[in-house]
Amino acid sequence: MILLRVQRSIASPGKRAYHDLITLPSTHKPVISHGPPGYSAVSGHTVTVFGCTGFLGRYLVSKIAKMGTQVIVPYREEDEARHLKPMGDLGQIVPMEWDIRSDEQIAECVRHSDIVYNLVGRDYETKNFDYQSVHVAGAERIAAVSAACGVSRLVHVSHLNASATSPSKFYQTKALGEERVKAVFPTATIIRPGTMFGFEDKLLNNIAVSPWWWKLNRGRTQIRPTHVLDVAQVLADLMATPQMARTLSLPGPSTLTYEYLLDLVSAVTVRSFHSYAPVMPRGIATAVAKAAQAVWWPLMCPDEVTRRYLDDSAARGDWEELGITPTEIEPLALKYLRRYRTTDTYTDPVAFPARPSLTA
Ligand SMILES: NC(=O)c1ccc[n+]([C@@H]2O[C@H](COP(=O)([O-])OP(=O)(O)OC[C@H]3O[C@@H](n4cnc5c(N)ncnc54)[C@H](OP(=O)(O)O)[C@@H]3O)[C@@H](O)[C@H]2O)c1
Repeated sequence: MILLRVQRSIASPGKRAYHDLITLPSTHKPVISHGPPGYSAVSGHTVTVFGCTGFLGRYLVSKIAKMGTQVIVPYREEDEARHLKPMGDLGQIVPMEWDIRSDEQIAECVRHSDIVYNLVGRDYETKNFDYQSVHVAGAERIAAVSAACGVSRLVHVSHLNASATSPSKFYQTKALGEERVKAVFPTATIIRPGTMFGFEDKLLNNIAVSPWWWKLNRGRTQIRPTHVLDVAQVLADLMATPQMARTLSLPGPSTLTYEYLLDLVSAVTVRSFHSYAPVMPRGIATAVAKAAQAVWWPLMCPDEVTRRYLDDSAARGDWEELGITPTEIEPLALKYLRRYRTTDTYTDPVAFPARPSLTA
């Protein structure tokens, strides 16, 4: 789309073409793009991104705002959405306060939008919000209010391992949430990414800081890490594709073990810390995680201990169909982990560990 617009603005400056006009399927509202591509472009779309203040949210908002889209960024804490403001041109990033339990506030956030993204999720429970209220009731409310407000498209982000029969409550509620969303918004696109890595991730950073939690199950659990920018690109591209009323799985390109990731982080940060970390038995880890719930800041929760023993789903990825090649973790590991090096080792070359051969 961007290439077409560059070509057009060179060939006939100031003129509009047929592909600049899209009519939304349900409301027949015209979406008209104009202007040159770039920061000050106007794609004509208005988009709401629930969960914009999170890890994936910042990359999605940045990508769609760069295309000239007006983005409604609902926030609970004003400061959490502040970094999103300069991602778009003046007036293009619109912060709005919201509560996941309020139909009225959700309606205010979606009523002018033609696409709604729901990225809301939490991998631990709090005093006010359990998994059910965020992943099931909250997801259903966003979908139902969006349908009632005539929103044309809903993109709901779930998890690669979402399963109603999973021993993890997190994965169970993610699966139940998908069902509820599909019931009230049948044309919704469900996205199931694997565990994501990037600058603000809870994977590489967490391994670098607390390696002992990743040695559970002797590090044998298998994981398919996905690059956050690949997932954000898929979500952004969905804006320009026709309705996709289906579930798309986005696992990383390789299946790795936690043991390998520990070795990788150790090699990249030039620290051999994890070899001294003890392997905690599951019972003790669960007891520590339960005791950790007494404090008011998030620490390892018992459900996370359960998840550390669950291999990632072997579902086939839908990348090819979406035209994106998923990125491997090794080429980016140094970029994301260099900050954990000391000044002495800051510029040292990396000797990557050998990848283990996995047997099913
Ligand atoms: N990160 C991963 O590895 C991974 C892998 C697969 C799937 N996913 C899913 O992808 C989505 C985005 O992940 P992420 O890593 O960006 O998550 P994240 O950094 O934890 O951000 C979660 C977002 O959800 C919002 N949220 C959580 N609880 C809420 C509540 N009770 N009311 C209102 N908003 C609430 C947060 O808002 P506040 O800032 O106000 O708290 C934040 O914007 C989630 O659904 C997650 O389950 C993540």
